Amino acid sequence: MLKVAVLGLGSRGRNYGSHLAKTDGVKIVSVCDKYQAKIDNVKAKWGVPENACFTDEKDFFAQGKVADVMVIATQDRDHYGHAMKALDLGYNLLLEKPVSPDIAECLAIEKKAREKGLKVLVCHVLRYSNYYKRIHDILASGVLGDIMLIKHDEHIAYWHFAHSYVRGNWRREEETSPMLLAKCCHDLDLLYWFTGSKCKNVSCLGGLYHFKKENAPEGSADTCFDCKYNKTCIYDCLYQYVGRNKGPAIGRHKFKWGTYAFCTTGKKKDIIEALKNDPRGKLWSRCVYKCDNNVADMQTLQMEMENGTQIVMTVNAFNENDHRHTEIRGTKGELYADDLGSVIKLRLFDKRTKKIVVNIIPVIRGHYGGDEGIIKATVGLLKGLDETKQQYTRIKDTVESHRVVTAAELSRKQGGRRVDMSEIPDIEE
Ligand SMILES: NC(=O)c1ccc[n+]([C@@H]2O[C@H](COP(=O)([O-])OP(=O)(O)OC[C@H]3O[C@@H](n4cnc5c(N)ncnc54)[C@H](O)[C@@H]3O)[C@@H](O)[C@H]2O)c1
Repeated sequence: MLKVAVLGLGSRGRNYGSHLAKTDGVKIVSVCDKYQAKIDNVKAKWGVPENACFTDEKDFFAQGKVADVMVIATQDRDHYGHAMKALDLGYNLLLEKPVSPDIAECLAIEKKAREKGLKVLVCHVLRYSNYYKRIHDILASGVLGDIMLIKHDEHIAYWHFAHSYVRGNWRREEETSPMLLAKCCHDLDLLYWFTGSKCKNVSCLGGLYHFKKENAPEGSADTCFDCKYNKTCIYDCLYQYVGRNKGPAIGRHKFKWGTYAFCTTGKKKDIIEALKNDPRGKLWSRCVYKCDNNVADMQTLQMEMENGTQIVMTVNAFNENDHRHTEIRGTKGELYADDLGSVIKLRLFDKRTKKIVVNIIPVIRGHYGGDEGIIKATVGLLKGLDETKQQYTRIKDTVESHRVVTAAELSRKQGGRRVDMSEIPDIEE
């Protein structure tokens, strides 16, 4: 029986725990979250004994090592402290991304895990989806020849961006992470995986362009409830979280699952009450143009990889849907892929285009199946399955994506200077 402890029962911790609780041969033996309501939501379903549920991390860690693996799904700036404590106790880790906004902390976690012989898997869940695995496998097969150029765009839906990066948890860089780390460490990890090459140098432009006071509609209020535009504004909190009763988008919920950030029941009346009166919930009824956000809403990166591949990557907040679009050009053919619909088009030069529909798992079902995939992989790894047959996102690989973000942010803050990766600390072998 594989025993698991879960620290942080927010949207991610609850998601992983739910998959683990359904997995044969796995038992969740202890959980911890600051909020009792979040514990109450899962403890019976997961069968966790009352005396193994904690609201204070000190009591949770004071138990010592009670499981084989700890899932760490707290907020970005807490991962380091929690991971180091858990490694000291001898836990293997399933650690949420980003590992840490501080590259020195990422390296320290990697070093401690290596020295103690413990496994740390980082939740770069996209690597575990069939769709991204297929792209990787096509590239690894060599059919495209040498990979010369990749254009990769991360399109964040406007409603998702507003929820997370304007009103929500990832809005202020000094309290959380730069947007490029919070959102695109996945993409930089995929690009590293696709090319099989580390980055040689990177330059980056971008910043916060739209979600700021000067773009607020004239006469708009500070909160949606007081605003004269609340029946038409696409960012109106009731429209976003419970749907509208009138107008062209009747009853449409843009982001119901996002409400777990401020309401544990998911009931309409509780969501509205939280948005109106709960000190935390009220964050999400603020006008998107009058928040205290400072993370970028648009960025462009140019990367040169050590193997010569050139990459242009963009990320922006101005899209109807969340999706990633990737174009890859090799010396023997080209590949177009969009994860909206999970379609890959492969065109080998002088041959017909081959259309590959990988699966139809939507992003809402957990990163195209990646959330479930990482749980299967973690359980497999810890139960000693053949490592060569599995895809694992181990910390030693994850560090590379975090180094590239560090370099790109340095570049962006210095007006787009090309930063050589030798400027960024790396793993000391
Ligand atoms: N892998 C992915 O694709 C993905 C997607 C979204 C978010 N994330 C990352 O996952 C992490 C969690 O995100 P989330 O959306 O679940 O956030 P969340 O705020 O919903 O969940 C964090 C939970 O941790 C609890 N917590 C925080 N500090 C604690 C402490 N000291 N002791 C006990 N409990 C504590 C909070 O009460 C909360 O319930 C973040 O680092 C985020 O960047 C990863």
